[in-house]
Amino acid sequence: MNQPVMGGVAALLNVPAYIKQQKLINWVAEIAALTKPARIYWCDGSQEEYDRLCGEMVAAGTMKKLNQEKRPNSYLACSDPTDVARVEDRTFICSNSKEEAGPTNNWMAPADMRATLNPLFDGCMAGRTMYVVPFSMGPLGSPIAHIGVELSDSAYVAVNMRIMTRMGKAVYDVLGTDGEFVPCVHTVGAPLTAGQKDVAWPCNATKYIVHFPETREIWSYGSGYGGNALLGKKCFALRIASNMGHQAAAVDGKGWLAEHMLILGVESPEGKKHYVAAAFPSACGKTNFAMLIPPASFDGWKVTTIGDDIAWIKPGADGRLYAINPEAGYFGVAPGTNTRTNSNCMASLGSDTIFTNVALTDDGDIWWEGLTKEAPAHLIDWQGKDWTPASGTKAAHPNARFTVAATQNPVIDPAWDDPAGVPISAFIFGGRRSTTVPLVTEARNWVEGVYMAATMGSETTAAAAGQMGVVRRDPFAMLPFMGYNMSDYFQHWLNMGEKLGQLNAAALPKIYCVNWFRTDEQGHFVWPGFGDNMRVLKWMLERIEGKAGGIENIFGTTPRFGDLKWDGIPFSPEEFETITSIDKDAWREELKLHDELFAKLAYHLPTELTAVKAELEKRLAR
Ligand code: GTP
Ligand code: SPV
Ligand code: MN
Repeated sequence: MNQPVMGGVAALLNVPAYIKQQKLINWVAEIAALTKPARIYWCDGSQEEYDRLCGEMVAAGTMKKLNQEKRPNSYLACSDPTDVARVEDRTFICSNSKEEAGPTNNWMAPADMRATLNPLFDGCMAGRTMYVVPFSMGPLGSPIAHIGVELSDSAYVAVNMRIMTRMGKAVYDVLGTDGEFVPCVHTVGAPLTAGQKDVAWPCNATKYIVHFPETREIWSYGSGYGGNALLGKKCFALRIASNMGHQAAAVDGKGWLAEHMLILGVESPEGKKHYVAAAFPSACGKTNFAMLIPPASFDGWKVTTIGDDIAWIKPGADGRLYAINPEAGYFGVAPGTNTRTNSNCMASLGSDTIFTNVALTDDGDIWWEGLTKEAPAHLIDWQGKDWTPASGTKAAHPNARFTVAATQNPVIDPAWDDPAGVPISAFIFGGRRSTTVPLVTEARNWVEGVYMAATMGSETTAAAAGQMGVVRRDPFAMLPFMGYNMSDYFQHWLNMGEKLGQLNAAALPKIYCVNWFRTDEQGHFVWPGFGDNMRVLKWMLERIEGKAGGIENIFGTTPRFGDLKWDGIPFSPEEFETITSIDKDAWREELKLHDELFAKLAYHLPTELTAVKAELEKRLAR
């Protein structure tokens, strides 16, 4: 470790002896020379460090410690009101060519982006501490895991990363002297001049969330919130990892998949267990589905969680797909979560949780819309203002979230941490659609399933900045997270199916499309959702085992009323009809939207998909 490092930075560096990689040290020195922090702090990932950083944030006003009796070791952080969600319009994929990023991504030539970012990052950490955050996505040392190092001037990021990833000292053992890591640079973009008083949640009106797929680098500027700032999550585990999985196909002929999917295990009363992976867009029910509690009448059925947001999926030698959850925690949507809809989730949040942008009760606990039927008489809302039920505003931000370790989940699957992953029996794709899309459809085959996933539409939610409730195409629930050309990604999925089919056609996962969100004339959800989604899941598993019936329609196979188990709820055939009916006129309109999508994605669009569309149109015309 005796090589010289850049000038004034050398005095700050103070590299711990357990770090053996000169390339890493040089990079930290280089970024410090650019961003000019007042201090450099190397995170070791210990509980002591976590407690200390949280304590410092409490002293600085960034977080409040919650009532120690009611919510032990838990904190509330409230962000700047302008920094509350992912910023999709400020997210860039800077591949060498625009075509490689594709028409669904913002793109800038790498050299131009570097020229843009350089002056922004120059001195951006002045007066602040630069935290060096080493993390593993996936079990430490697993052959499918990958390592990242995030340099951030936010202590909030450091403590959240400790929950969301395997973060700490042990990562350096895996890295060794020449292991690879994805360099992630993050700043809130709020340098402090000498003597300047800090604010509770520093950030910048200018924001850039930038990915360089060729060099596998991430640069994030101006936001401290969620996916903008916790760079292991969307930036690495989806945008960079999707590139890795695609590029790997050129090497081994198959590659792998990085998906916006939960993974759950489901066991029947007879003890037969399957794992399924499900892609729903942001704030459309992944966390809830991953922790699903079967209705009381489903005696003996068990659902367990592998992951709630991201899946890395690789083909095994047996021709099956194996999935791991690269994360170690959940950054979940708070509003709407309660003991009735998801008591497993509520149980996870009993202690050791960071809450962001929820409301504070008078006794130092948390509250959000939907937590209890009746709101407390008085709260401090997420913006720090007095709130009463008469206020007419939301006490918690609609994208308020909790950060909690996966190990706090009472239904965590025993295999959740298994480096080998779990075999996937089915893929489920689901959007938030108040009309048109039926409760559940089984694709006739892989190609038609890929078509359904590719053309999926969903109403936008509070998870991203921008207008809410607008239907947009969200292929594979990956629109905001695709790291390369969307059409090439469709091709990657088609190729994967073909390869797996050759290896083990019988084990090819079935593909389903679901919609929990159809509404009646009054705008109420017709389907009870949550635990009752088990009724649909059970049908899928029985289909996989060749035991359940259904009828074929224009798009695939759907259950008849009698094919689902209804014990325990008064759900009528008429209600079933309102959420499963196929309105041909609505579908003709829907297919026009598929046309629009395919026109946009024309470059490299797989011809198999246009062929499926032509067949659908024929069946619809009958
Ligand atoms: P990200 O973390 O943003 O990727 O989202 P997610 O897909 O994990 O979303 P989550 O499970 O946290 O759900 C977000 C919202 O969907 C909450 O407000 C829930 O109340 C609601 N929700 C979840 N499952 C269901 C369901 O089955 N039916 C209905 N109607 N709402 C649901
Ligand atoms: C999502 O928006 O899909 C999330 C939350 O999972 S964030 O990490 O902020 O992207
Ligand atoms: Mn997500």
